[in-house]
Amino acid sequence: MADYSNLQNNNSNPYGAGDPYYSQSTGYITPMNPPKKAGTSKWVKLGIPIGLVVIAAAVVGGVLGSRAANDDDSTSSASASGGNSSGSSDPGDVASVKAEIGRFATATASEWMMPVYPATTNTAAFTVPTFVDTTDAKLAWPSDDWKSDSPSVTNLRPEHPRIIAPKYKWDALPELIQNDPYLKAWNDTIFGNATEYYSLDPVKYVMDGDSGILDNAREIKMRIKAFSYAYRMTKDTKWADRAWLEVQNAASDDFGPNNDTKWNPSHFLDTAEFSAAYGIAYDWLFDVLTDDQKTQLRADLNTYGLQPGIDTFTVADNYYGWWQKTTYGNWNCVCNGGLTLAALAIVDEDTTGNAAALLEKTVPNALGNCVYAVSDDGTWAETANYWYFGNTGHAEMASALQTATGSDLGMFDTNPNYYKTGKYHMYAYGPTSKFDWGDHGPNKFSSTANAVLLYGQYYNQPAYTLFQREQADAAEPWSMFWYDATVNGAFWNGLELDAFFDNATDQWASMRSSWTDSDALFVAMKAGKNQGHETHNDLDVGDFVLDAMGTRWAGEYGSADYRAKLYFSNDTQESVRWTWFRKMTEGQSTLLINKANQLVTASPSVISSGSSGTKQGSSTVLDVDTDDTAFWVADITSAYDGTTSAKRGVRMLNGRKQVLIQDEVNTSSDIQWRMHTNATVTTDGSSATLERDGKTMKMEILSPSNAKFTTMDAVRLDTDVTPPEPDQENPGITVMMIELDAGEYTIEVLFTPQWGSGFKAVTPSSVALDSWSLTSHN
Ligand SMILES: *[C@@H]1O[C@H](CO)[C@@H](O)[C@H](O)[C@H]1NC(C)=O
Ligand SMILES: *[C@@H]1O[C@H](CO)[C@@H](O)[C@H](O)[C@H]1NC(C)=O
Ligand SMILES: *[C@@H]1O[C@H](CO)[C@@H](O)[C@H](O)[C@H]1NC(C)=O
Ligand SMILES: *[C@@H]1O[C@H](CO)[C@@H](O)[C@H](O)[C@H]1NC(C)=O
Ligand SMILES: *[C@@H]1O[C@H](CO)[C@@H](O)[C@H](O)[C@H]1NC(C)=O
Ligand SMILES: *[C@@H]1O[C@H](CO)[C@@H](O)[C@H](O)[C@H]1NC(C)=O
Ligand SMILES: *[C@@H]1O[C@H](CO)[C@@H](O)[C@H](O)[C@H]1NC(C)=O
Ligand SMILES: *[C@@H]1O[C@H](CO)[C@@H](O)[C@H](O)[C@H]1NC(C)=O
Repeated sequence: MADYSNLQNNNSNPYGAGDPYYSQSTGYITPMNPPKKAGTSKWVKLGIPIGLVVIAAAVVGGVLGSRAANDDDSTSSASASGGNSSGSSDPGDVASVKAEIGRFATATASEWMMPVYPATTNTAAFTVPTFVDTTDAKLAWPSDDWKSDSPSVTNLRPEHPRIIAPKYKWDALPELIQNDPYLKAWNDTIFGNATEYYSLDPVKYVMDGDSGILDNAREIKMRIKAFSYAYRMTKDTKWADRAWLEVQNAASDDFGPNNDTKWNPSHFLDTAEFSAAYGIAYDWLFDVLTDDQKTQLRADLNTYGLQPGIDTFTVADNYYGWWQKTTYGNWNCVCNGGLTLAALAIVDEDTTGNAAALLEKTVPNALGNCVYAVSDDGTWAETANYWYFGNTGHAEMASALQTATGSDLGMFDTNPNYYKTGKYHMYAYGPTSKFDWGDHGPNKFSSTANAVLLYGQYYNQPAYTLFQREQADAAEPWSMFWYDATVNGAFWNGLELDAFFDNATDQWASMRSSWTDSDALFVAMKAGKNQGHETHNDLDVGDFVLDAMGTRWAGEYGSADYRAKLYFSNDTQESVRWTWFRKMTEGQSTLLINKANQLVTASPSVISSGSSGTKQGSSTVLDVDTDDTAFWVADITSAYDGTTSAKRGVRMLNGRKQVLIQDEVNTSSDIQWRMHTNATVTTDGSSATLERDGKTMKMEILSPSNAKFTTMDAVRLDTDVTPPEPDQENPGITVMMIELDAGEYTIEVLFTPQWGSGFKAVTPSSVALDSWSLTSHN
């Protein structure tokens, strides 16, 4: 450990000994965990003369249209460093650059409202991600009387608010808002949203089949957060009154399945989200609620939330608590998280003892389960979409424990790989949308990606913070406290274009031509297992998505009907789930063999992968060499019955302007190569032209030489088992196929987006998958 004794910091915590954001050993305001900094303390960094820093920024920044610097030492990896900043660490410079740039726009047309980055460079602003110590930072975490030398759930910050945002953070917020364009805009949006909800009737009770009243719960929670935020920022009681209407409504006679099960404990997510909503209302509105209101709120919370919660832990064989034994999903995080927020809010006034008893249960249960839903490579084991729900639950629980007890009590570090989940999330996004395999989940409402703002801060990953602050869902109350406004730089500066995720549960690859160009080429493909995803996956080994020129050319269907009979029954081979088109192998962009579903026992392996290691630099415009590439090859034989061998590879060609997908298959059954697209498809033997959004993509079968493209509507094959309820329609979608008899084949399909003037396509020579390397197709 470096010796800081000669620096200004004397290691006495200026923020109160128990402040969760203060590390005794380093003096960092943001404690550093698994990814260690390069060894330069923020305190040392402040000593660098400003002139020198500005020159360094200009050199590293490059110019508009600069070439990518492969393994360029001057752009250090954003995910691992951040400490040795090439950017300005002068607080004044950082603030003025930030104010000058403001925020980037987001697309309004795309499903995910993806940010649109300008095709300009700004070497002063687009620097390597870092958190900069400024006096502003101290505003965020000022000293506090409260101390906790031995953090525990029985030793809480005494005053309210205490969950997510204690009083000292509220006090600091107005000034932070004035100095940060993101906080400023989010604050405006939250007020705008609160104003909109204000004039609506309280959320109406609707039981939605197997999804229960989860939408009701999350919508109420979303509103209560906004109203309570607006109250705390204005002290105008109209907001508290409106929040109270929502609280009363959720415990009223005509709400819920019946009076005993108002919050639907048989689908415990609902109960947990209502509990969280009540906890937030109690804690954030504590100073304005009357004693009668508080008594009533605690009583309702106990009856409908905490008592059913205790029962799930203590009543033998309580089915409602099945989630306590599940590691790989959002349920454990959401259920423990909701109960924890509620319990922390009322525990010191709760005469039933339920809150205290729950805290002794939820924390160890989450530490034994929830935190392991992140694989050792950062992948969320359920699906890329369920990541939102699970991480919202995890982050709310970790944050509330931090602020109420002075410690996350292990939520962040018990799984030493948890921090990687932010990286996973970033790489799952292409320029138009996500690689969104499996189910897409219910409505989001209060579930967002803002957990990565908290993770950015806690794990010292400024790139996470910079990435998420551009997203449309960043504007909500949690962000106002999870966002570290001292962040500086551009998330893409120093960020590798490719990433490979190798955990056996979810092997997958993510490759792109740029992080900031909406038209960039992006291809992602998965292998992984067909079981162990909380029954939210599809039978989709080999599935891929492809974006280019601002359009998704190969995509996914997402969820089928959650309310359909036996939709979630189980993930065994005979499960009814695998009779719906969207969940079957034929609903995926992969090989279909013998017109049969893949085996649920599939256990693929990654044969090889490679990347030129290209990192984007400062500029939003990236131009790579023609030999700049990435590839990934998996053995997917185990997904198919009666098949001797099946391998699938994907690679970028021609300087990341074209894509090759190659299969080597030897089977005794017929084969269909399938891809699902929204594009209008015209086939001409071995070639096809796809048109979408005014753009054109050419596809060509390079092998086998006699193969041709055919198409069909996105409907099940006549030979399929019929599901108990009809499939959804898939309007506008075409299935492209290459149909082959049983035998041994190399299938090569070349994708060539029509980039326009100056673009020269290449036709690669044929190389066996086992011989693929970074240079095999030059
Ligand atoms: C910081 O970066 C500079 C320039 O790349 C390098 O010379 C120096 O060794 C780095 N320092 C640390 C502590 O990594
Ligand atoms: C937050 O937004 C509201 C509504 O736009 C505005 O009235 C208020 O001044 C903002 N708060 C701060 C601290 O700027
Ligand atoms: C909040 O307001 C923004 C800006 O008007 C809007 O785009 C967004 O849909 C609103 N969010 C919700 C959940 O109503
Ligand atoms: C709940 O109880 C109240 C009386 O306390 C009764 O009026 C109401 O009908 C009951 N609601 C349901 C759904 O059973
Ligand atoms: C995948 O991640 C899970 C969860 O962290 C871990 O238990 C498992 O050992 C990992 N598998 C491999 C093959 O590394
Ligand atoms: C169809 O387009 C939507 C919107 O771009 C996308 O989310 C979806 O994945 C596409 N579906 C297919 C099958 O390509
Ligand atoms: C799995 O679910 C199906 C219905 O989808 C059922 O017939 C089968 O018995 C279940 N298997 C197990 C092991 O629970
Ligand atoms: C293809 O599979 C058949 C049947 O298992 C086998 O006899 C043949 O040797 C395989 N071909 C190759 C090249 O492995």
